[in-house]
Amino acid sequence: MNSSWKTTKLLGLLMLANILIYVVVEVSRSYGQGRDMYRRGKLTPKKFWKKPEVSLAFWNRMQDRLDDIYYLPLANGSEPPPDFQGIPRWLNRTSPCQPDSRVTSEIEDFKSLPQRFQDFLLYMGCRSYPLITDAPNLCSEPPYLLLAVKSIAAHFDRRQAIRESWGRAGILDGRRIVTVFLLGSMAATDHFPNLSDMVKHEAALYGDVLQWDYRDSFFNLTLKEVLFLEWFGTHCASAKYVFKGDDDVFVNTQHILAYLGNVSKTQDLFVGDVIANAGPHRTKHLKYYIPESVFRGIYPPYAGGGGYLYSGNLGLRLRTISRLVTLYPIDDVYTGMCLKRLGLVPEKHMGFKTFDIEEKHRENPCAYKSLILVHPRSPQDMIKIWSWINDPKAKCYIAPTTKGAVRRNKSK
Ligand SMILES: *[C@@H]1O[C@H](CO)[C@@H](O)[C@H](O)[C@H]1NC(C)=O
Ligand SMILES: *[C@@H]1O[C@H](CO)[C@@H](O)[C@H](O)[C@H]1NC(C)=O
Ligand SMILES: *[C@@H]1O[C@H](CO)[C@@H](O)[C@H](O)[C@H]1NC(C)=O
Ligand SMILES: *[C@@H]1O[C@H](CO)[C@@H](O)[C@H](O)[C@H]1NC(C)=O
Ligand SMILES: *[C@@H]1O[C@H](CO)[C@@H](O)[C@H](O)[C@H]1NC(C)=O
Repeated sequence: MNSSWKTTKLLGLLMLANILIYVVVEVSRSYGQGRDMYRRGKLTPKKFWKKPEVSLAFWNRMQDRLDDIYYLPLANGSEPPPDFQGIPRWLNRTSPCQPDSRVTSEIEDFKSLPQRFQDFLLYMGCRSYPLITDAPNLCSEPPYLLLAVKSIAAHFDRRQAIRESWGRAGILDGRRIVTVFLLGSMAATDHFPNLSDMVKHEAALYGDVLQWDYRDSFFNLTLKEVLFLEWFGTHCASAKYVFKGDDDVFVNTQHILAYLGNVSKTQDLFVGDVIANAGPHRTKHLKYYIPESVFRGIYPPYAGGGGYLYSGNLGLRLRTISRLVTLYPIDDVYTGMCLKRLGLVPEKHMGFKTFDIEEKHRENPCAYKSLILVHPRSPQDMIKIWSWINDPKAKCYIAPTTKGAVRRNKSK
């Protein structure tokens, strides 16, 4: 009895010692791991103790590193790091434009992601594509308003309608307007007919086309945004204001000028159809679907990509900050992410109708006089509405209530 009690005590002590050794080994191992990760720049010491595992989605993980190293010091007023102007060091692989095979193992469900995500992720490190067609003299006289229109090679009719209507370059109400169309290339793999000679001809004729050599796809629109910002900074930095939008919208350019003549805070101006408190769609078949392994969290306030208006000065700041914001597959959300890092919030303006106006007003010329943008509109609509708002005789005397009264009278 006594001896067996001793044995049990001995066994118990031995087990306790084992557990203690195990705990010590495990703790020091994970501490070593943590320090190792810290050294490799994966975690800040603060975050290591707060949140041991790096469990965030891929985009968040990439951006966290940038935010930790660049924005925290910037936010509390220290000097920007010496390489602030350059590509962040960890993104500088020797050939950033080769497919980045690391992503295939860094995202657990990479192989089951839709093809467009795989394409996006493999090439998201590359931001330099050759300019096939330049428009070097476009801003030789500084524009008051630069209209930058996202288009694709095949949409010649839309561009021509814009040139003949709201994007007519020249002097309008005493202000210089310059229009530029932003194109990528039509990849042969996407089965587009080869329009490259046509685009070349068009560019030579109008001098308002910028075309880069990358695949013009929906998920590459963010690439279009950053390439445009870089071009803007080097070739059109003196523009006072920039409107950037799609080629299927109608824009009331005169009204933009009237609005800009009125605004007080010009430096930080950024207006559009602002969407707040949105987040990624998780339904697979949607155009805006984003998998959880790619992004988690809510979106900062952003202006719908149909069109928004900002100051040239802010355009230059967007260009600089965009170099430190990881590309995101949805371009207007990306711009919101850049604004957030500049400490700015885009402002909602009711004149941007990216979800159209009520059907009963669409054929009413008066409905367009006080709007800035309506989406969507065909090339024919653009020309028709432009003639309406430029007709000096088409004054808006007929209020909708009068019309209603007339109809009521008739039905009696
Ligand atoms: C700036 O903020 C970071 C992170 O919060 C902190 O580590 C650093 O000491 C701060 N620097 C100054 C100069 O306040
Ligand atoms: C990128 O890395 C290469 C090789 O380490 C180096 O020569 C080059 O200067 C770096 N580029 C930038 C922009 O930092
Ligand atoms: C399209 O045509 C141009 C000129 O004819 C040619 O140089 C180019 O290689 C073609 N592009 C493709 C993708 O076939
Ligand atoms: C974006 O363009 C690059 C260059 O043409 C291409 O390799 C990549 O697959 C494109 N990405 C998407 C999502 O289409
Ligand atoms: C400009 O300001 C005036 C006075 O506040 C206002 O009545 C007018 O609607 C404004 N115009 C535009 C285009 O915003």
